Amino acid sequence: MRIWPLLAVVLIIASCKTSAQSVKTSDRISTQVDSVLALMTLQEKIGQMTIYTTDWESTGPTIKAGYQNDIRSGDCGSLFNSHTVAFTRKLQEIAVNESRLGIPLLFGYDVIHGYKTIFPIPLAESCSWDMAAMEQSASIAAAESAAAGLHWTFAPMVDISREPRWGRVMEGAGEDPYLGSLVARARVKGFQGNNFNGTDKVLACIKHFAGYGAPIAGRDYNTVDMSERTFRDFYFPPYKAGIEAGARTVMTSFNDLDGIPSTGNKWLLSDVLRKENGFTGFIVTDYTSINEMVNHGFAADEKHAGELAANAGVDMDMQGGVFQRYLKESIAAGIVSEKMVDEAVRRILRIKFELGLFKDPFKYCNEQREKAVVFAPAHLDAARDIARKSIVLLKNNNKTLPLTKGKSIALVGPLAADRGNLIGAWSGAGEGDKCVSVLDAFQERAAKDGFKLMHSKGCAIEGTDTSGFAEAVRIGREADIIIAVIGESKDMSGEASSRAHITIPGVQEQFIKALVATGKPVVVVLMNGRPLTFPWIAEHASAIVEAWWLGSRGGPAIGDVLYGDYNPSGKLTMTFPRDIGQVPIYYNLKNTGRPYDPNTKWNSRYQDIVNSPQYPFGYGLSYTTFTYDSMIVTRKDYTFSDTIIATVNVKNTGSVAGEEIVQFYVRDLVGSVTRPLKELKGFEKNKTGAGRE
Ligand code: NOJ
Repeated sequence: MRIWPLLAVVLIIASCKTSAQSVKTSDRISTQVDSVLALMTLQEKIGQMTIYTTDWESTGPTIKAGYQNDIRSGDCGSLFNSHTVAFTRKLQEIAVNESRLGIPLLFGYDVIHGYKTIFPIPLAESCSWDMAAMEQSASIAAAESAAAGLHWTFAPMVDISREPRWGRVMEGAGEDPYLGSLVARARVKGFQGNNFNGTDKVLACIKHFAGYGAPIAGRDYNTVDMSERTFRDFYFPPYKAGIEAGARTVMTSFNDLDGIPSTGNKWLLSDVLRKENGFTGFIVTDYTSINEMVNHGFAADEKHAGELAANAGVDMDMQGGVFQRYLKESIAAGIVSEKMVDEAVRRILRIKFELGLFKDPFKYCNEQREKAVVFAPAHLDAARDIARKSIVLLKNNNKTLPLTKGKSIALVGPLAADRGNLIGAWSGAGEGDKCVSVLDAFQERAAKDGFKLMHSKGCAIEGTDTSGFAEAVRIGREADIIIAVIGESKDMSGEASSRAHITIPGVQEQFIKALVATGKPVVVVLMNGRPLTFPWIAEHASAIVEAWWLGSRGGPAIGDVLYGDYNPSGKLTMTFPRDIGQVPIYYNLKNTGRPYDPNTKWNSRYQDIVNSPQYPFGYGLSYTTFTYDSMIVTRKDYTFSDTIIATVNVKNTGSVAGEEIVQFYVRDLVGSVTRPLKELKGFEKNKTGAGRE
């Protein structure tokens, strides 16, 4: 039953406002937060520390129904997997009108690479090395999701990974801590902007804290074990960058790290995150990760797990309901202090105030805005632009690309006409059927430019059926050039989607062999969520284009690159191995005491394969060529606090304009600890005209 109407809360806030005119906003919010906290029962406080999924959709095992009753009773202060103005408004009305204190709900969702307008998967976007573009895509994702009633995205995922078997590499920015940090910053800025005064920004969430990208054997959720040095040097920097950029929330990770599950890891959450790095927002767990500490063998039962989480510094329990069921008891027993609970609730309420929800709980609920903002034409144009920038040209023998206008084309492969897969994994509210496929884009060009376009699927992504090969080979023979669009389906990457073999699935490689046997030039366009191994194709295809999952306007973006309307400029942010046996493989490796020498035995090498990858980090071709000369570094020796200034002349020596990503690496030759052979420390992306410096 509701005892205090919302009005009571609003009046207290309003009176604080007038009496505190000259105090800083943060102080004013503290007073407002305290005035609300003072009205709350312990049960209501614990309710603010609880988030449940709705029944709209699920992103994990559903173990809790009836969340509407929890909203009414004040047992749940936030919800996820709920979006659209109509749906969130209904739930917000329950919170505001039917709960005792009327505290507004916070709505979260996995808006990972776009809400309705879907951008390339984050791994693809990172290959653009274009921070402004990534900030813009996050900013558009924020505008669309905020227009659809959302306050909070569970992004960016900033987990560094050297593990292509791990399905979630598609969600991150690859293997490098420096680049990953810049991407983390850009995406936080894009999602959150400078404040929440308007209605086009959402809370960012740095995840998964910490080390989730290094599961043993690449199996999702698996144990993580690394030295603190490796953690701090390679895995921690992007989390830090995201926090410094102002991310208001952090999500714990499922894994244990050095024997302690992250969700119960006081060192990680309280010492490193809050004390060392000054994080002031709130910490939410990953989905049921409190409960999972029992399976980890770290907690005796769920109650114990809740105590470990609360005492480690967790503020909000996602989906597990552990705080709701047991925290009161743990406080009564003196195992968790109410003071700690108050601090957690303060952090959560503060953010609700910062968003302006106490002033107007329906601030993000405007149907007209939703209609105007979602799928706005400018958003789709931006999606096409960043999609072009995300493409990496891996091979281009004898200038097979760009395509010569007017030549006849056989467009084949299971993904050529596919729209649904273009949105990639973790595309939440995305609508695959609204994507423009490669075939759609080529049909439009063929209608305009009048060239002969033939299409045949050839085979499926998976399975053993080769009956479609013959027709695809037939049209291939008839055409001047064959374009084969092959790869993974979107569900082969993402959460719980690790693969032990990272080959191109099904009979697709066999299909490419049949196409190459025609003697016609074969351009392979890859769509995938992770680095794959394809040595035969790497050797025999005429050209290879890494197109990842490019989102709503993937087809036209691929057309732009294949026809040279956009000169490819992307560079890989994750190493592509030659063989799964090389994994983990990454560019910033150390020299060892017995550096690699393929010609002798007693050194760090394999007997059956070279050490080098198929395509290294930082690799990507262009339709033009660049030369580098006159590299100057200001000095020879540096101390820790010095700035290194390096200049180099880069000349476009080809016949078309192009962008080059000039990368700057350092190596500490002698140190008190060993350092990698190469570490990225800077880069610049420059556009130069043909023949120009
Ligand atoms: C589990 C995932 O690990 C996390 O990234 C996501 O935000 C939550 N589920 C909520 O869907």
